[in-house]
Amino acid sequence: MTDQLIIFDTTLRDGEQSPGASMTREEKVRIAKQLEKLRVDVIEAGFPAASNGDFDSVKAVADTIKDSTVCGLARAIERDIQRAGEALKGANSSRIHTFIATSPIHMEKKLRMTPDQVVEQAVKAVKWARQFTDNVEFSPEDAGRSDPDFLCRVLEAVINAGANTLNIPDTVGYNLPHQFGGLIKTLRERIPNSDKVIFSVHCHNDLGLAVANSLSAVLNGARQVECTINGLGERAGNASLEEIVMAVKTRRDIFSCDTRIDTTQIVPSSKLVSTITGYPVQPNKAIVGANAFAHESGIHQDGVIKHRETYEIMRAEDVGWSTNKLTLGKLSGRNAFRTRLQELGITLANEEALNAAFERFKALADRKREIFDEDLQALVTEVDVEMVQDHFRLMSMRAHSETGTMPRASVRLNVGGKEQEAEMQGGGPVDATFKAIEQIVRSGTELLLYSVNNITSGTDAQGEVTVRLARDGRVVNGQGSDTDIVVASAKAYLHALNTLHGGAERAHPQV
Ligand code: KIV
Ligand code: ZN
Repeated sequence: MTDQLIIFDTTLRDGEQSPGASMTREEKVRIAKQLEKLRVDVIEAGFPAASNGDFDSVKAVADTIKDSTVCGLARAIERDIQRAGEALKGANSSRIHTFIATSPIHMEKKLRMTPDQVVEQAVKAVKWARQFTDNVEFSPEDAGRSDPDFLCRVLEAVINAGANTLNIPDTVGYNLPHQFGGLIKTLRERIPNSDKVIFSVHCHNDLGLAVANSLSAVLNGARQVECTINGLGERAGNASLEEIVMAVKTRRDIFSCDTRIDTTQIVPSSKLVSTITGYPVQPNKAIVGANAFAHESGIHQDGVIKHRETYEIMRAEDVGWSTNKLTLGKLSGRNAFRTRLQELGITLANEEALNAAFERFKALADRKREIFDEDLQALVTEVDVEMVQDHFRLMSMRAHSETGTMPRASVRLNVGGKEQEAEMQGGGPVDATFKAIEQIVRSGTELLLYSVNNITSGTDAQGEVTVRLARDGRVVNGQGSDTDIVVASAKAYLHALNTLHGGAERAHPQV
């Protein structure tokens, strides 16, 4: 058995299925480049049949990435597979991932198909996919609740049809580690020719067991794990890439395989995904949480000073914490700015975008003495937002709060080319600002979430605000950053409104 564990990252596909986490083409390409730097083996870039926008995003990733295989998801339907094949045409190395549900509940209630029909469709799907690429992955959706005998039947048939990776999803996060590991062992033992294919797993975190189930599968012979940065994904998320990779690396005494991942790129990847999706990382999150390497108790601090391994099983710098370095300041010129962006893997769309980003950088450097990589990432996200979606633009704003008086805010917006102004009172300056924006826009949205995080430390740090809005069943996130969190809040609100305004409805692969 191979000693390489293939890391299949699905942040851009399953991760994007988190409420409000949909990404623009430019954002997907930025994340994909970072995943390539992280040395992920396979990047699942999206579901090309979902919409023209999704097709374009997968195509842009396929045309850009050179060192990782780029994968597109497709239901076991001819049109989906054709769209995936077309989107992936420009890839150096491509894979089509096709799936159909195999659990009794999904076959009967969702697909309304008999088991025989499911086997037939699965085989056809793999054969269609093989017309576009010789790298085909098949998933029996909801395998974790499927009958093992039926799984053996479907999987044997798809191997014969040409599938080379068999991915076993615990779609609803129902399994326990010993059970899921046992399932992988059974399938490997019972399916003829199972040694000719790679067994993969795709675990959801509904019971908080996605990483444990994936690792149990690896111990039972799985050699690909599907995972996401920060554990992003549908509902409670997917297995988190950083936890899988570091568990396998740290416990080489237990695992007889290792990954190709450059672990020093883990923290930068986590920060980029969090900035772009607006999903903050909880401080106590393993590996990438702000407290993951912080020792609070005196006894622990004393131990670490005397001998690091007393309380540390990994080194912070090995997962990229030390790459948080001071990069630029007020006196840095255009060239230094451009060079640092290139080093971070950021290429702006054109000279106009670079100029806009440089202007913003100068304005930020006037207010903030030290500019870090994280500041640059946030700044570029803002420029991307502005260049692509500008139906609602913030021209200026003023907020006033004083003890004993009702906070108020006035905003001037450019709405589709026409400037409008409003002033409102609110419970606080942010509330007043949102009310003033709504006075102009009357969006009819519901505010689902408002959160503020500091991008770096210190009171002069930029605040990064995430706003989640819902309207007619559609949920979108908006981000904004600024050293003034009321301004950051207004930007985030407008970003979310612009996304709602511009984005088209997309199909969900599993509905
Ligand atoms: O969770 C799941 O079953 C999936 C499949 C499409 C692999 O995401
Ligand atoms: Zn999934």
